[in-house]
Amino acid sequence: MNEHDSERIAGLLAADGLTPVGEQGDADVVVVNTCCIREHADNRLYGNLGWLKSWKAGRDGRQIVVAGCLAQKDRDEVRARAPWVDVVMGTHNVHRAATLLEQARRLGPVTEILEEAVVDEDHAMFPSALPVRRETSYNAWVTIQIGCDNSCAFCIVPAVRGKEISRPFGDIVDEVTRLAGEGVTEVTLLGQNVNSYGRDLQLEARRAGDAAARVRPMFADLLGAVGAVPGIRRVRFTSPHPKDMRPETLAAMADTNAVCEHLHYPLQSGSDRVLAAMHRGYTAQRYLDRLKQARAAVDDLAVTTDIIVGFPGETEADFQQTMEVVDAVGYDHAFTFVYSPRRGTEAAAMAEQVPEDVKRDRITRLVDLVQRHAAAHNAALVGTVQEVLVEGPSRTDPSTLRGRTRGNKTTLFRGDAAEGELALVEILRSTSQTLGGRPAVTAAA
Ligand code: 5AD
Ligand code: SF4
Repeated sequence: MNEHDSERIAGLLAADGLTPVGEQGDADVVVVNTCCIREHADNRLYGNLGWLKSWKAGRDGRQIVVAGCLAQKDRDEVRARAPWVDVVMGTHNVHRAATLLEQARRLGPVTEILEEAVVDEDHAMFPSALPVRRETSYNAWVTIQIGCDNSCAFCIVPAVRGKEISRPFGDIVDEVTRLAGEGVTEVTLLGQNVNSYGRDLQLEARRAGDAAARVRPMFADLLGAVGAVPGIRRVRFTSPHPKDMRPETLAAMADTNAVCEHLHYPLQSGSDRVLAAMHRGYTAQRYLDRLKQARAAVDDLAVTTDIIVGFPGETEADFQQTMEVVDAVGYDHAFTFVYSPRRGTEAAAMAEQVPEDVKRDRITRLVDLVQRHAAAHNAALVGTVQEVLVEGPSRTDPSTLRGRTRGNKTTLFRGDAAEGELALVEILRSTSQTLGGRPAVTAAA
């Protein structure tokens, strides 16, 4: 979500006449887009702002913007610790970036933080409704929902992103159609809790007296509609919440060719006691049952997850239960996090914080297990032919192409396919992180 916000800020500034530069020394404006989900990013901001102070002093007229959810949360602290910052703006003010820079040029430092998204006629609060400077020409993020109505005890997101608001169905399909016209072949639908997409739209329609507003799995409909847009070859989405995973969504995944065989399915913990304290709304068994349904519905489904170790009160026995679920599922990949207390969240105030060294020890063991499964999954693909969306040359070896399979595995191969093209690749090698291969017969049309 933050990456997509960065693209929007860049797009707005480009629309306002600014151009990107390769070297920071050549810049007139630096925008620092922040994330506050874990403490690490938080610490880095103040270090960066320290050296940006001397950068700013290097030439008259240079400006610094601090945007994003950390600015939303800690506006006063940013101002107090770095008074040389020109613009401090929140997550609901992204569309105002160019205006605020101009205002700061005339009047001096500004801070602008809206507490909630403003719903206007242009739906400007939906990130993708703004100009975007995309990193690549063939894939795009598409926001379908902002905010989050859940209250996971560890999570700062609801406090900094506001309540859940779904973007109108037609607007999303229109945007995807426009993107396809521009050559985009892969879209990733973005939301904090995509499975509950449309819930607020139905409530609104019923409140307005539309008795026909039926209760329906609108995310499933959306997958079907987006997948049917001519030119769209791949649809991904992140993240579905396990408690809201519906059979209709699985059916839509199975029935819509463009929807990739990949499910990012955040577990967080495998202990029912911890899951309850987190307010996740499911037990380990329920999570596993639903995953079983997903695997039954979608052949060759790649499954990835998010896991937190060291949530307050997590015992070694709780952690072992997480390891058991990880072992039972056998994820293709997992994003693993050490629990990081965020001021203002329920968990930060809990008494039984887990010592740092215990958290470190647990994450090391978890990463080891995750990597073993990832390596086994990748090894099982050796000998198969995979459809790879080419992303360009490999970062380390320009004579090799890099791309991703439908299951989202990074694949390296020698060939002459263009960026954005779909190529068929015979897999010859694997590690826990990547696949390697060679072009198979012909490139897919
Ligand atoms: N500490 C550690 N990890 C966190 N996440 C969210 N909040 C925290 C926190 N306070 C992780 C969750 C979420 C992912 C995006 O970040 O696993 O799914
Ligand atoms: Fe945070 Fe939970 Fe909402 Fe995800 S569902 S954004 S973890 S509160």
